[in-house]
Amino acid sequence: MATDTKIAQSISSTDTSGSSFPRGKNILAVASGKGGVGKTFFSISLTHALSRMGKKVLLFDGDLGLANVDVQLGLMPKRDLNDVIRGRLSLDKVVQRYEDGGFDIIAGRSGQASLSALPSQRLAMLRDQLIELADDYDVVIIDLGAGVDRTVRMFSACATRTLLVSTDEPTSLTDAYAFIKLGSAAGMSKNVSVVVNMASSKTEGEKTYKTLLKACENFLRLSPPLAGMVRQDPKVKETIRHQTPLLTRSPNCDAAGDIEKIAQYAYKEMVEEAKSLLKAGRG
Ligand SMILES: Nc1ncnc2c1ncn2[C@@H]1O[C@H](COP(=O)(O)OP(=O)(O)OP(=O)(O)O)[C@@H](O)[C@H]1O
Ligand SMILES: [Mg+2]
Repeated sequence: MATDTKIAQSISSTDTSGSSFPRGKNILAVASGKGGVGKTFFSISLTHALSRMGKKVLLFDGDLGLANVDVQLGLMPKRDLNDVIRGRLSLDKVVQRYEDGGFDIIAGRSGQASLSALPSQRLAMLRDQLIELADDYDVVIIDLGAGVDRTVRMFSACATRTLLVSTDEPTSLTDAYAFIKLGSAAGMSKNVSVVVNMASSKTEGEKTYKTLLKACENFLRLSPPLAGMVRQDPKVKETIRHQTPLLTRSPNCDAAGDIEKIAQYAYKEMVEEAKSLLKAGRG
């Protein structure tokens, strides 16, 4: 009962602390099978939407060697993950405030081979530091690289839920299915929810999700829920060209509304999962 009250307070209060969640249970990873489906755009917009809901959010660029959160936001980070990997700074020291969006960012370093080929031990250290840092936030969003490489598997496994982005292109759908199949075979978290991005309409988006769901149910005996869909919207390209977040530049467009809905759903789902974990006494 006391636990319920604590969680309920955490939901209603705007000044919530990540400490209401069991350790590491406030991390959402954004992944995809195929590249270029909108993960980085979605991660930034989701972070921004959560921040506008009054949450304290950190966006971690987990696409280690091909980082581009900073590029989409037009930032020139003074400190980034490279400083952490080289042992110059601890992870909390490379957090940067993105004032315009009201959230924090940890930037990666594009084209840094040492980041994409980190020894497993280093990668695990980075993950552990991130889980520790997550205690200071309501939500941590990790923007991952495409596919299921070691880095993706490790970060996805430490997340409470992975939001798998797919478009309605057949190749993207096949790769999303492969992500779920390989991920579950590799012992990765089965907590995967689907986001259909660049949907030409709600009906098309739903059709795409149902196709993926059917394959997962028939061949993998898994039923990943739909977190939501984001419609194809010309404002997205425009906003990326201007290196400004969508919710700043075009807060009333279709895609912005879709992402706000997903943010509400994903946060609620995260709270529910934390609640059931705490109830089961595993918090
Ligand atoms: N809802 C949308 N409507 C229209 N265009 C979109 C939408 N979402 C993404 N895009 C387009 O897709 C492009 C790729 O997006 P983004 O770089 O975020 O993908 P990514 O999955 O992070 O790619 P990578 O796998 O290379 O990291 C964007 O430049 C944008 O033009
Ligand atoms: Mg990306």
